[in-house]
Amino acid sequence: MTNNVTIKDKIYIEPNINPDIFNRLQKISFERDKEKRRDVPILSAKNVSKKFGDHLVIPNLNFSIEDIEGKSEVISILGASGSGKSTILKLIAGLLEPTTGEMFLLNNKIEGPGMERGMIFQKYSSFPFLNVIDNIAYPLIKVKKIKKNIAREEAKHWVDKMYLTGAEYKYPHQLSGGMQQRVAIARTLCMKTKIILMDEPFGALDRKIRWEMQDLMVELLFLNPEQEVTALLVTHDIPEAIFLGDRVWIINKGDIVLDEYVERPSEPARLTQGRRDFLDMVAYFSEKIDSLEIKGRK
Ligand SMILES: Nc1ncnc2c1ncn2[C@@H]1O[C@H](COP(=O)(O)OP(=O)(O)OP(=O)(O)O)[C@@H](O)[C@H]1O
Ligand SMILES: [Mg+2]
Repeated sequence: MTNNVTIKDKIYIEPNINPDIFNRLQKISFERDKEKRRDVPILSAKNVSKKFGDHLVIPNLNFSIEDIEGKSEVISILGASGSGKSTILKLIAGLLEPTTGEMFLLNNKIEGPGMERGMIFQKYSSFPFLNVIDNIAYPLIKVKKIKKNIAREEAKHWVDKMYLTGAEYKYPHQLSGGMQQRVAIARTLCMKTKIILMDEPFGALDRKIRWEMQDLMVELLFLNPEQEVTALLVTHDIPEAIFLGDRVWIINKGDIVLDEYVERPSEPARLTQGRRDFLDMVAYFSEKIDSLEIKGRK
């Protein structure tokens, strides 16, 4: 009698994680714990739950992000589809209200959207009837009430920073996806918000453009930051989460089940993400996510 083995059965075999990873993660964590963090957390959640009708998406979320003096911090957020990542971002953005519990920005309860929090979505969110300069200048004029000519000057500065020179007077439909996303990013960054919330910002871009965007984010957030920010980046791309994150969270059923420090990159995305030690790290996080899924199925 033959015993039919399907490829799906093999998923239960223990994956091969390089044991060095655990020492590396411990070392990073040890170094990072020495950093001086502020007393009042920049963002925190206290016993937050969120229900949509009868569907309890977030049972009891608690976190506290104490930011580091003089340094930006990016928290990458991974997790299966439907685990509540976008919901958490929207609660922080003030676009959704918790069913119970509270969210705080510094010591202030979050009760709606505010100027300290900027959001970047996957879908290009530019106005089709405005050119690049005016798209970037729009929130400066409308939200920050800055005079049009001054706002346009500031927008020009961002055009250069985002490598959009030459496209100033083009309209969104005349731009590639990567360029449109750079306009959306510029629009958020020029507001100089303390918090940047990004939901799959590069999800619609191909691998090469995605790498370019990741390198640009390293430049803007780590190498030449215009100010200290705390950024939350939701992504399905594990290499992107590790490459851009100072910390990686894994969300499962509305809860943070893993919070791990990772290193900042020293080389461009394409190079870093092909290195053996980076791939070992990817395997570690993949395994964490997959094991949650397998446990959930059993
Ligand atoms: N406005 C809403 N009304 C009803 N249910 C919602 C609403 N928003 C989200 N949900 C439900 O809450 C759960 C979590 O959704 P959420 O969008 O936060 O997941 P996610 O982790 O961002 O998933 P993905 O990776 O697919 O974007 C899902 O089951 C979703 O159907
Ligand atoms: Mg989502």
